[in-house]
Amino acid sequence: MRILKQLFEQNQNWARKIKSSDPDFFTKLSEQQNPEYLWIGCADSRVPANEILDMLPGKIFVHRNIANLVIHTDLNCLSVIQFAVDVLQIKHIIVCGHYGCSGIKAAMDNQEHGLIDNWLRNIKDVYRYYQEHINALNSEQEKFNLLCELNVIEQVANVCHTTIVQNAWKAGQELTVHGWIYGIGDGILKDLDVCVTCPDEISQIHRIK
Ligand code: CO
Repeated sequence: MRILKQLFEQNQNWARKIKSSDPDFFTKLSEQQNPEYLWIGCADSRVPANEILDMLPGKIFVHRNIANLVIHTDLNCLSVIQFAVDVLQIKHIIVCGHYGCSGIKAAMDNQEHGLIDNWLRNIKDVYRYYQEHINALNSEQEKFNLLCELNVIEQVANVCHTTIVQNAWKAGQELTVHGWIYGIGDGILKDLDVCVTCPDEISQIHRIK
């Protein structure tokens, strides 16, 4: 091994530590995964799903991208949702944003950032929908925090609008979509109280018969 030897050493220590408290841990996990949760979060290194929830491998199915976006045509994210809902039969989809998100920050300025501008434009759309509400706030910090929250709320709606989630509800599958936000400054999760459990709770425009 030429490089990053340290990381392999850390990995071996980690695996050893888990095995010392549960010798069959990896053997049991290698047979199947049975997570109850799908986490859709930001790629930010400070927001690791398993650590925040204090969960070992096997407990949570994870998809992360910049600013935890659920884009209607993102085959990557949609495939994760479909696999999680149809195959793993997870019960909860958690969209988790975080305060201080650099993706959200970048979407609030008028600079050019390269290729990523095409991704960030989805956040600008959220800003545009809620601009009156956001611009009514006094400080830049408050505006930034609110857009971080509103972005989560919009992504929760996007998850619910997928045919994947609506078909699962139609089939009587128990499935709840949650919107949470994480404080990188204190390590605490906040529920944004936008939990959706059935098609009656989504906009009429998006409801599939
Ligand atoms: Co972020």
